[in-house]
Amino acid sequence: MKSVRVALAGAGNCAWSFSQFVAQAQADPETRLPGLMCHTVGGYRLSDVRIVAAFDVDAAKVGLPLAEAFTAPAICATDFTPLGVDRNAPVLAAPVLDGLAGPLGAVVELAESARDTTQEDVSKALAEHEVDVLVIVLPTGASQAIRMFANAALAAGVAVVNATPEELARDVDLRRRFADAGLVLLGDDLRSHVGATSLHTTLIELLLSRGLVLASTYQLNVGGNTDFLNLADAGRSASKFASKANALRAAGVTDVDGVAGPTGFIGHLADTKVCFANIKATSVLGSEVEIDVKLTVEDSPNAAGVIANAVRLGKTATDRGLSGAVEDAAAILFKSPPRGLPESEARAAFLDFVS
Ligand SMILES: NC(=O)c1ccc[n+]([C@@H]2O[C@H](COP(=O)([O-])OP(=O)(O)OC[C@H]3O[C@@H](n4cnc5c(N)ncnc54)[C@H](O)[C@@H]3O)[C@@H](O)[C@H]2O)c1
Repeated sequence: MKSVRVALAGAGNCAWSFSQFVAQAQADPETRLPGLMCHTVGGYRLSDVRIVAAFDVDAAKVGLPLAEAFTAPAICATDFTPLGVDRNAPVLAAPVLDGLAGPLGAVVELAESARDTTQEDVSKALAEHEVDVLVIVLPTGASQAIRMFANAALAAGVAVVNATPEELARDVDLRRRFADAGLVLLGDDLRSHVGATSLHTTLIELLLSRGLVLASTYQLNVGGNTDFLNLADAGRSASKFASKANALRAAGVTDVDGVAGPTGFIGHLADTKVCFANIKATSVLGSEVEIDVKLTVEDSPNAAGVIANAVRLGKTATDRGLSGAVEDAAAILFKSPPRGLPESEARAAFLDFVS
């Protein structure tokens, strides 16, 4: 049977929503699920995905089957559906490195077994579970831990999807090492399915396509999950600000006062994310146009929609003998791919590749 064997580095909220999306597809493979952009990607349905292992450092998750780990206190994404065939995939310990630096250290208790786990242990587990694609869904700013997972995957011969804004696919040397090993490395930083970046850049593309001149823009985002808690620490959020700026630049926001970033943790929002975007532009005869939009989404299912495409793209590219960042086809899935494209061009490149 055709399958995409996936491991998750980080059994947090995005991992939980993605696992539920896969379970929903497995329960009814023929139905076109809401939010699923492509029923098949390179011939793979979402129901062909198998989550075979996960890695974490949280004492409330490590050593448990996947379905039980997702009941840990740090999980706040909505429980829509029980897991199916993947419910007993093991949650294995990983080296913590800088994974719990900042505010996360106060809300997550470190698993004892994570203290003496090594990169080699991670590599070995990836090989033993015959993983095709490792999805890195670690906290933003945990650059040592994220890089450790990339190196472990490289040693095990496993493709990587980097959901975080840390530089992996944009790192020329790392990309070359993956390419030399015949492995795919997709990233960086998920561009959420219908999220702040997609909405913001689509509106900018609309204005630019009509010949308007941008004057200024900003994008504010607040939420209440552990991702936002972590991002509330200035020491952790720098790469997220840089990544959002990359996405705006690719959309044509150059020489303009543009600001976009995570702007605050509001605990009672839990997994709800609220984005406010403002764009000012000059139109015919110097007349002014101003757009203000508010977008409210559930943050983690929004990530799951993109991961559903990314893992199948990673496997398809591997099947076709490709390696490295698969640049144009993957650009729609990330805020900071090695070469950013406007939304419509990126979507066309992806659909062309996967059809
Ligand atoms: N939600 C979205 O739409 C979206 C969009 C773009 C990017 N992202 C990025 O995805 C990443 C994950 O987000 P999330 O909401 O799932 O975060 P989360 O806080 O819910 O999950 C992170 C998980 O990583 C674990 N972890 C920490 N250090 C580790 C280590 N060394 N080894 C293994 N596991 C470790 C934590 O215990 C936690 O379970 C973040 O970097 C976020 O910015 C999310």
